[in-house]
Amino acid sequence: MSKPLSPIETAKFVAAKRACDFVESGMKVGLGTGSTAAWLVRCLGEMVRNDGLDITGVPTSTRTAELARQMGIRVTSLDEAKWLDITIDGADEFDGDLNLIKGGGGALLQEKIVATASDRMVVIADKTKQVETLGAFPLPVEVVPFGWQTTKALVEETLSSLDVLGDEATLRMNGESAFITDEGNYIIDLHLKRISDPRQFGIVINQIPGVVENGLFLDICDIVVIGHGDGRVEVKDITLGTTRHDVIEISHPDNVFSDLAE
Ligand code: A5P
Repeated sequence: MSKPLSPIETAKFVAAKRACDFVESGMKVGLGTGSTAAWLVRCLGEMVRNDGLDITGVPTSTRTAELARQMGIRVTSLDEAKWLDITIDGADEFDGDLNLIKGGGGALLQEKIVATASDRMVVIADKTKQVETLGAFPLPVEVVPFGWQTTKALVEETLSSLDVLGDEATLRMNGESAFITDEGNYIIDLHLKRISDPRQFGIVINQIPGVVENGLFLDICDIVVIGHGDGRVEVKDITLGTTRHDVIEISHPDNVFSDLAE
């Protein structure tokens, strides 16, 4: 028998499970990346296999594509799908306006392109991701490998003119080597502590040659589903200005998904 889920995994699971309510047969669905999004892919896969849910998934990373296929979800590319009904993804931070930091898993570029090409973006997260002001989580910035040290130096120089508290920039590593994104790029993590003006920050940082994209998702997320360790969920809808409270019954705590945590 598998172990019961920890409170944090329960929180991620119930957020993902509740977000499945937004998905209907016939939809083209952007599938996020990360440990919370992996719960979503598992839950949707279960609905495809058991309930006849008929969806087409557009994954935001090679690892999500692989998991989706394993779960029996039909997968296609964004170029094939062109426009999506909904994207559901995790986040590293979200604030009261549902602006986000994403890219902790290194998939920010595909995630941003896919979420932007969707009628709606739903974020699924445990309560720990909620912040007053963005920036405690290091902001990922994707850069092309060519001349990356010069790009990093320019980014660091630019930070001094922006309203942020920290100025450390580190190349993301994967063991002894640089972490490589699905697009073959590098990631520089910016330890900013607090980003007072994310809008200005995003515009300025993306002007630097060599910067491909940053992990600020501004005015992209419509709904956040916040999961708690006891099965409660809050659904905040920024357009409607509503917050709904639900409880997800975890019918089988020793459930088949408990091996999933990434
Ligand atoms: C992947 O690149 C990220 O944007 C993830 O969505 C984010 O890091 C959240 O991941 P977890 O759900 O694993 O916390």
